[in-house]
Amino acid sequence: MTTSWAELTRGIEACHACALREGCQRVVPGEGNPTAEIMFIGEGPGADEDRLGRPFVGRAGELLTKMIHAIGMERTDVYICNAVKCRPPGNRTPTAEEIAACRPFLRAQVALVRPKIIVLLGSTAGRDVLGDQFRVTRDRGKWVERKGVWFMPTYHPSALLRDESLKRPAWEDFKAVRDKARELKKG
Ligand code: URA
Repeated sequence: MTTSWAELTRGIEACHACALREGCQRVVPGEGNPTAEIMFIGEGPGADEDRLGRPFVGRAGELLTKMIHAIGMERTDVYICNAVKCRPPGNRTPTAEEIAACRPFLRAQVALVRPKIIVLLGSTAGRDVLGDQFRVTRDRGKWVERKGVWFMPTYHPSALLRDESLKRPAWEDFKAVRDKARELKKG
């Protein structure tokens, strides 16, 4: 899909490719620097995101924001979006069909931003981008390079809120992202 940001936003707003649009209040396309070097992909909007139309603004979002600050960046430096742009009812995991229906939008976002690094937050984003065989506990923290883009899968911030012991490995992954960004900048 070759498109502009305006076309992409219109496309997301008009989309009824799956049933999620019927059950949500607002679409949550994504936000941040349209030419960011680092892009974060989560699962899908929760209640706060659905109300505000912005990604990662609830409790998990607060933690993600802190982690972005901890690697010396602001939310406005990076681009943040989700595998699905509409809230799944009751925050259930989006189905494979819903994720597939939304994938052209995610692909278009990646094509527009052209990030050097993509951080995959949790198993839904990991599977969406790296394939069904992806397992977050096994595969997190390992760089995957595709067509010159570096992917870092890590735990979803919601998982860190549920299980404190995951914070340390997630922090290692974020530091690896910071170091890779520095390395890529040097050329
Ligand atoms: N969880 C996600 O995966 N995305 C959001 O935007 C918020 C919570």
